[in-house]
Amino acid sequence: MDCTPEHPKDTIRPELLDFSPYVPGQSMAEIRRDLGLDTVIKMASNENPLGTSPLVTKTVQRRADLVFRYPRPNSPDLASALGRHLGLAEDRLVIGNGSDEIIDLLIRVLARPGQDRILILDPSFSIYRLQARLCGVELTKIPLNPDFSFPLSQILAAADQNTAMVFLTNPDNPSGYTAPREKLIDLARSLPRRTMLIVDEAYVEFADQPSSFSPLPLFEELDNVVLLRTFSKLYGLAGLRLGYGIMPAWLSDLLHRVKLPFSVNLLAEAAGLSALEDAWFVQASRQTILQGRQDLTRELRALGWTVYPTQANFLLVRPACPARHLVDELLNRGYIIRGLESYGLAEYVRISIGTERENRGLVLACKDIRDNYA
Ligand SMILES: Cc1ncc(COP(=O)(O)O)c(C=O)c1O
Repeated sequence: MDCTPEHPKDTIRPELLDFSPYVPGQSMAEIRRDLGLDTVIKMASNENPLGTSPLVTKTVQRRADLVFRYPRPNSPDLASALGRHLGLAEDRLVIGNGSDEIIDLLIRVLARPGQDRILILDPSFSIYRLQARLCGVELTKIPLNPDFSFPLSQILAAADQNTAMVFLTNPDNPSGYTAPREKLIDLARSLPRRTMLIVDEAYVEFADQPSSFSPLPLFEELDNVVLLRTFSKLYGLAGLRLGYGIMPAWLSDLLHRVKLPFSVNLLAEAAGLSALEDAWFVQASRQTILQGRQDLTRELRALGWTVYPTQANFLLVRPACPARHLVDELLNRGYIIRGLESYGLAEYVRISIGTERENRGLVLACKDIRDNYA
């Protein structure tokens, strides 16, 4: 029988044929258009409710006329500034087009397709699963404990010589659960020697005490840990795409060798530098989230709803009414929150913390929905 492929489509890797893309939160423009609303408040994608620093805006405007130039590979000015900011040698840092890019690179560099496995928790941030699949690397999913804490002994039991990496998100998305740093350090030390522990710290800067949760202060003593951070949340740069990984020098060297040279654009690097300089904005953003977290948790619990403890800039909520009803009814009132069907948590919603005014408006809308739910 002649099995000669007749079309390029006939030879696409089979694991990609039913690939479904990342599902983002709905955009404000879509909602305004679809529902005919003038004002829409987005509390769905864990962005910074204060926007970005005025210093950043000025920098981007001032640098706009330089966009005809290529950026320098590996964003060296930002790497130096971040190194000083974090108290780390620059060769521990890889800067990427969002931390998503670093996740993708780590999987491609560390895991051998057809041979290695990656351990993730279920549910967890979907990019780990999607990029592993794209790379043809097998995944093992370990269910979170019923209270959403990390099943550390199950992770250890599942990790073997073919486990290239374990992904943990701390604070976790979407649950908000945050493991103390000692647990992460114990896990890193107990994993097989070849296994890297990737701790995604996209939200750790919102913790009451980030150093209680992040292994960063002990980073130099841990040779199998990578930390991921982003400028998308605390620094309000989600649309410019800027994130970074903190890793042993041998690994950052490899990533730098295989990374596309200009993935971080010129304006993103300049914006990152200004964002690091604006301590006032960082402080105001943290203050808004820490206060809002307390207020929203208290108010939503007062409605009789379950609100999980969190150190992040969002809340996992189990309302008394069906979650989809809450999402849709809030949308009709101009509030976008995140339904969690794609995480397999259909009875829950995730609400990003907003400004004081946004939080107050959301609570009033939630009360109204609760009171009118028959
Ligand atoms: C856990 C987690 N990691 C990474 C990211 C992506 O960050 P970035 O915008 O830097 O790609 C997100 C964004 O929502 C996230 O929730």
